[in-house]
Amino acid sequence: MVKLMRIIVEEDYQSMSKKAALLVAGQVLLKADTVLGLATGSTPLGMYKELVRMYQEGEVDFSAVKTFNLDEYYLLPPDDLQSYHYFMQENFFKHINIRAENIHLPDGMAADIEEECMQYEKAIEASGGIDLQVLGIGENGHIGFNEPAESLNVYTGLVNLTEETIKVNSRFFSSMEEVPQKALTVGMGTILKARRIILLASGEKKAKAIRDTVCGQVTTQVPSSFLQLHPDVTLILDQAAASLIVD
Ligand code: PGA
Repeated sequence: MVKLMRIIVEEDYQSMSKKAALLVAGQVLLKADTVLGLATGSTPLGMYKELVRMYQEGEVDFSAVKTFNLDEYYLLPPDDLQSYHYFMQENFFKHINIRAENIHLPDGMAADIEEECMQYEKAIEASGGIDLQVLGIGENGHIGFNEPAESLNVYTGLVNLTEETIKVNSRFFSSMEEVPQKALTVGMGTILKARRIILLASGEKKAKAIRDTVCGQVTTQVPSSFLQLHPDVTLILDQAAASLIVD
């Protein structure tokens, strides 16, 4: 079958991370005031580490870059060790020369969540839109926290996490009760409006979701399958994540 997505398969996690970092750095070299859409999770950690190294060695400059993260847990304060605000500071922002005012994440503590989501969309638009969106993928095909469902959200909003996602996320919390059941996430429309998208996946656990993303029907039950509708998507996979893709 004809596959519309560009697919890069790397030997292992390390080289996948390096490739992803090169693509992000390349984007910033081409356009110093790039607007990046960023993801959290275990998968992009290696990419952030490599970008920090490149910054430290003077290979990339983030001083004019703006960032918008995909999601944040509902009602988790930014200094909570499990919040995505904290994750981004610890793993990326505090190590590079990005300006604090250029960093954006949805605020899961906002008093008026609906207003917060609307303002987040407006801020993305006012920045000129996302030039390069970095995505991970859930084992169930979620992107951001757009979970499999009868219908998908177009815009940023508050969503219920699926049981499967709550279980997967629980590995970072000390008890099941502490795992947030809701999150703010940019919508599918917001993601698909990005000019370029790269999606990273590593490990056997992601192989089925990747197969469905690339070779399956476009369905709300696999939100990542909607990436087939986007003209500029690159998947960066390790061999395990790519293992179920059929030619
Ligand atoms: P992971 O999460 O990188 O920790 O596997 C990805 C996701 O759920 O989007």
